[in-house]
Amino acid sequence: MLDSHDVDVESRRALVTAAEELAADGLLGDSVLADPAARLPEPLAERLADVLRPPAPGVGHRVVRGLFAGFTDPGPTPLHWRETDRERCAALDIALVLVAARFGRVFGWTDQQDGRIVHNIVPSPGCEAMQIGSSSTTELAWHTEDAFHPDRADLLLLVCVRNPDGIGSRLSTVSSAGLDERDIRHLLRPEVAILPDDSYEDDTAAAREPVGMATLWEREGSLGLRYDPSYSRLLTDDEEFRDAYGRLGRALEAGSFGVPLAPGDLVVIDNDAAVHGRTAFRPRYDGTDRWLKRILVRSPRQRPARESLEHGYGQRQVDAHGGRPVLRV
Ligand SMILES: [Fe+2]
Repeated sequence: MLDSHDVDVESRRALVTAAEELAADGLLGDSVLADPAARLPEPLAERLADVLRPPAPGVGHRVVRGLFAGFTDPGPTPLHWRETDRERCAALDIALVLVAARFGRVFGWTDQQDGRIVHNIVPSPGCEAMQIGSSSTTELAWHTEDAFHPDRADLLLLVCVRNPDGIGSRLSTVSSAGLDERDIRHLLRPEVAILPDDSYEDDTAAAREPVGMATLWEREGSLGLRYDPSYSRLLTDDEEFRDAYGRLGRALEAGSFGVPLAPGDLVVIDNDAAVHGRTAFRPRYDGTDRWLKRILVRSPRQRPARESLEHGYGQRQVDAHGGRPVLRV
């Protein structure tokens, strides 16, 4: 079930060397792509070409073991994403961004994690039971990343900094859900309004006109999926639609599988083919907690035409490739 690849030691070393050189110039993960010359060295990109390509839609993910394992320890896990020491993380973050850029356009959101490009996913006091990445004691329910927005990521990259208790990420794909024709027909209808999740600072979203969104769409020989029941409202009382939506949830649960992540591992998720989640865990809050880095990538693919009419709740993207001054420390 798991699509997993290992990376040779030479490639790991070359990645560290390239990223450390850029970090020594004062660049950060968030600023490196504003320098048009910054990219993976070509010989390294060629060596990694087999693993740095989008997963097939039917698979929905690719795990690249140990790609980032050669970096020095970035220090204790912060208690909040805002407390991340970005200088100390610079080389790792730069490597992550350069790898992400091989997949497409790297971006962030102005209202999420202060518009940063490299997101830090750590458990935070006060967020334990929420449905966001900084939760812990509650299971993180199935979701498409940023499902509320028409320009959401096509690909999502997660990198493990540390994970001492082996807290698994979970994945499930629409292709393995085994939906019948009748359910698919219902779920192609734009009957679900999905709101921004609580990691966004804008709290005016609920007041906006709800937009009907399709849960499934036809996509080059497979189905696309847009699903985030924790932040969704069904816009119809049609029992057949509601039953189909319920069956989808159960089918995703039944077809789910865990992705064990160790320090340095990368998982690339096709955000149109797979939903992701996380099991519950007890946070330590002592600097040793699970710590992931997240990067969003856009490499436009087929989505329902009507999505282009959506307001996206006014959420705007931050383009990592330019339009912002190069920040130096
Ligand atoms: Fe997520």
